[in-house]
Amino acid sequence: MHVFHIVGARPNFMKVAPVMRALKTRQHVVQTLVHTGQHYDANMSDVFLEQLGIPAPDFNLAVGSGTHARQTAEIMTRFEPVLLERKPDIVLVYGDVNSTVATALVCSKLGIRVGHVEAGLRSFDRTMPEEINRLLTDQLADLLFTPSEDGDINLQREGIPAEKIFLVGNVMIDSLVKLLPPARNRNQNGLPERYALVTLHRPANVDDSSTLKRILQSLLEVSQDLAVVFPAHPRTRKRIADFGLHAEQLRLLDPLPYVEFLGMQSRATVVITDSGGIQEETTYLGIPCLTLRENTERPITVSMGTNVLVGRDPGKLRLELSRVLAGQAKKGSIPPLWDGHAGERIAAVVAE
Ligand code: UD1
Repeated sequence: MHVFHIVGARPNFMKVAPVMRALKTRQHVVQTLVHTGQHYDANMSDVFLEQLGIPAPDFNLAVGSGTHARQTAEIMTRFEPVLLERKPDIVLVYGDVNSTVATALVCSKLGIRVGHVEAGLRSFDRTMPEEINRLLTDQLADLLFTPSEDGDINLQREGIPAEKIFLVGNVMIDSLVKLLPPARNRNQNGLPERYALVTLHRPANVDDSSTLKRILQSLLEVSQDLAVVFPAHPRTRKRIADFGLHAEQLRLLDPLPYVEFLGMQSRATVVITDSGGIQEETTYLGIPCLTLRENTERPITVSMGTNVLVGRDPGKLRLELSRVLAGQAKKGSIPPLWDGHAGERIAAVVAE
């Protein structure tokens, strides 16, 4: 049996690693890794492959950046000949990025089965490019692997037959569980004892100058009570420069490797973010998370975990931060099946 895996962007390296590892133990399975090249900077890609023990990709489509249409089309054009040449039995796609939907569409037109890892998540906000990617990928997929029960409910509501849906748990947490011990041992030289760890990259937050300015202003206010450490996504750093904004009081860093970032999360006083995956990781770690979004496709992190949606309201951010600083942060628990074994459950279904 020949299984393809598609990766391309930073949030999905942590998802592919556990599945590849679990499938490696099945003797009749041959695996091929395709990197679309959506993320191409060494610190957005190579260092993740290395730390997560992912083999060098068999194909790198090197598509790079572009508008959504151009990037999606480029991935499709470059992926089709690879698929025609190798003809895998199934292609596993991960998450909700442009690489996910582009490759799923190519497969479905060529009659090749698609498995979607992290299926069923919905923010119900169609202005997010990721929501469009999620909706379309789930319609195209033959096997849908969900991280939590809300995913199953969303998919069934959209008419996906129950027999295609497999509640396997959160595969990103598999990587976290594996690498948390070395992450905790990483030297945190130069970091204060207490700090807010910030990440920011959603188009809705960083692409408009007045929105980004307001968020940076709120973070400056935060920095009066608590040091702010801010590894910035290349997109965000570029916008800060383009808009002529200032963020000198925030400790702006380059994007960090997985293990270093995990270590920083595990020790943070609070995490302030607009990322999807970080809402999940903080829930697992029990670290308070204040999410700079009005909605989330990961509602279980709010209902069960440590996540609070503060939107873009500086007053709400201030209030929630003061709760954290007063030792009254929201307590949470770890959702079912976020146990480090989701990759094995996916492999069992795929290998059948
Ligand atoms: C993508 C995903 C988003 C995910 C995020 C994590 C889509 C629609 N969005 O957003 O869901 O949360 O990745 O990082 O797929 N850039 C670099 N170096 C890189 C990669 C990107 O400089 O290695 C810069 C380029 O200027 C590029 C911009 O970042 O134009 C945006 O990159 P892109 O992959 O298009 O989207 P992300 O914002 O990273």
